[in-house]
Amino acid sequence: MTRTVDFPSQPIEDVHEQSKRNDVKTRVLDWLNERTGLVEPVRSFLNYPVPEYVYRNYMYTLGGLTLIMLTLQAVTGILLAFYYDPSPEGAYNSVDYITYVLPYGWLIRGVHHYGASALVILTGLHMLRTYFTSAYKGKREINWLSGVLLLFLVLGFGFTGYLLPWDQKGYWATQVGTEIAGSVPVVGDYLLTFARGGEFLGQATLTRFYTIHILLLPATIGLIVVAHVYLLRFHGMAPPITERGKRLMNRFVPFFPYWVTKDAVLGAVLLGFLIYLSYIARASLEFPADPTSSNYTPRPEWYFLFLFQLLKYFPGPLEVVAVVVVPMIAVGGLILLPFIDRSAERRPWRKPITTTIGIAAIVAFVLLTVLAQNG
Ligand code: HEM
Repeated sequence: MTRTVDFPSQPIEDVHEQSKRNDVKTRVLDWLNERTGLVEPVRSFLNYPVPEYVYRNYMYTLGGLTLIMLTLQAVTGILLAFYYDPSPEGAYNSVDYITYVLPYGWLIRGVHHYGASALVILTGLHMLRTYFTSAYKGKREINWLSGVLLLFLVLGFGFTGYLLPWDQKGYWATQVGTEIAGSVPVVGDYLLTFARGGEFLGQATLTRFYTIHILLLPATIGLIVVAHVYLLRFHGMAPPITERGKRLMNRFVPFFPYWVTKDAVLGAVLLGFLIYLSYIARASLEFPADPTSSNYTPRPEWYFLFLFQLLKYFPGPLEVVAVVVVPMIAVGGLILLPFIDRSAERRPWRKPITTTIGIAAIVAFVLLTVLAQNG
């Protein structure tokens, strides 16, 4: 028995329309290419073959989602800057105006406010994914180091942004944060004066934090993200570590539209969630900063609470342990990791030392944060 397949017939006019459109598209692209030479590089960027073990695993969407979140922060940040007044006299009122009077100001500020936490969470989860799968191996040391730098830049955004509303919360957290920097042996005084732009918190501090927040950090993070993505493409993704992944190793999908669409859909869900959060709970704004208040208990943003708690266990002369020794071990460990861990093994269940250190670090972070929250 012969089987026939019926193709839906296409009207002659449609075929002509289509070829005319293709013709216009080719001419526009040729025009652009002759003037910029960029059409081919962009095309090969979009057609990049993504292995299916990457495309089918949601853990690999974390990096792209971090990038989407970073972009959302840039867009909402620019909109906020249209109305924000970076002076101790005007900052609080401008943020109050944005939150309660400006049409959709609550939405823009809400997405930026909750987005900051989402960015830290996503960056952290993405880092854990690359840590536990040892994705820093196979000549990817510089990619890992660029990631470590990105983590600190993201935290820098959080620290500098917290002061900007110039309310009690931001003011006192910065007061304590800069005091902690001031307690570092030898260079402490210099660090404190540098961060505050003088001895006390004031206009100079706000100008510095604002400049760092809207110019220095975005420019630096932009450059490092480009380097991070370039290195990713240069090396390709680290090979799979599971049997299922290995079976999918030689199958590929083009970066556009497959991976882009998947990340974009997840990004839209994330944005929807941030809008929902902004709607049910306005981004917080406490009373205006009052340098004379004596009974305010300073509290940093939740992702710095663990450090705050750590400080409580090392009072007086021992403070140096929490301020210098522990951070140096943590930062030094992150930087040196790809140079120390040289074995070819990448499966976390076969790497008891790195896996135990990773889990211990997560447990310590969660425990210290919970203790600080309840303390
Ligand atoms: C703003 C922050 C960051 C952005 C936008 C970003 C972006 C990305 C993207 C899009 C990928 C590919 C997809 C994926 O693996 O999820 C990736 C891979 C990678 N990232 Fe990041 N990343 C950031 C921070 C970090 C951090 C904090 C680390 C580690 C300290 C890191 C280390 C890596 C490594 C080693 C890879 C290669 C993964 C592999 O080959 O399997 N990144 N990053």
